Amino acid sequence: MTLIETVKDLRAWRKNAGHVIFVPTMGALHEGHTTLVREARTLSGPESKVAASIFVNPLQFGPNEDFDKYPRTLENDLMMCREAGADMVFAPTMKEVYHADRSIKISESSLSTVLCGASRPGHFDGVCTVVAKLFNLVQPDEAVFGKKDYQQLAIIRRLVRDLDMPVKIHGIETVRESDGLAMSSRNRYLSPAERAQAPALRAALIEAREACQSGVTGAKNLTHLIQEYLAAHANLGRVDYIALVDQHSLQPLDIAHSQSLIALAVFFDKARLIDNIELSH
Ligand code: PAF
Repeated sequence: MTLIETVKDLRAWRKNAGHVIFVPTMGALHEGHTTLVREARTLSGPESKVAASIFVNPLQFGPNEDFDKYPRTLENDLMMCREAGADMVFAPTMKEVYHADRSIKISESSLSTVLCGASRPGHFDGVCTVVAKLFNLVQPDEAVFGKKDYQQLAIIRRLVRDLDMPVKIHGIETVRESDGLAMSSRNRYLSPAERAQAPALRAALIEAREACQSGVTGAKNLTHLIQEYLAAHANLGRVDYIALVDQHSLQPLDIAHSQSLIALAVFFDKARLIDNIELSH
């Protein structure tokens, strides 16, 4: 596996790389990320290269978020990428990615106004800007993103569509701990008591999906059911949002339809957890 730290070396690598499948990350890798790399490896034929990036993007952190505290575990990340089958990891410095006087950003004005976007202003513009830059740098043919960050995935699909980027986007199922908790680099911030309650997020979403399958399709009823479940099983958390939305536009729905999604976010003391479930009523 090749480690590349500069744009110059990346350009040289890209010239001879052929078909490239790309997994962008911010490091602090866990099983969820290595699954993305392994999926990329499976998607790619023997001739293709799997490229990952590790870059903690300051643009997508709000002023009161955890940019400085975000875990940086490069040595371990590189080992995990190698084991999962990556051919190349691009791990640039800040200076290599952002000019001090940069003045262009990419802004998304619809899908990013709801769900996590409502409480994280500017976050998805930061994601769009860095993903567009990484796509320009790595020039992948395909890229892989997790469905845990469903809103991010939907916005990146929109970015690629609206800016005519020749990159095929793949959404990969969320990887979970054995008790159902979605893997996240932020799970490490949970206290033992919060960690014990955190699987309730997934359990509540499953309850809602089952209710939907048996005919409870109204947004009010479904969100109420989740609210009640969390109040009973995750009282250390504070709900940020629970929403029934369309899987593509992310706009709120009154009634579930065949391509709906329930997404939620819950604040614990030092971590805000998100999860979601697709409904195909
Ligand atoms: O999902 C992430 O880790 C980040 O948002 C991404 C896509 C790597 C952009 O910084």
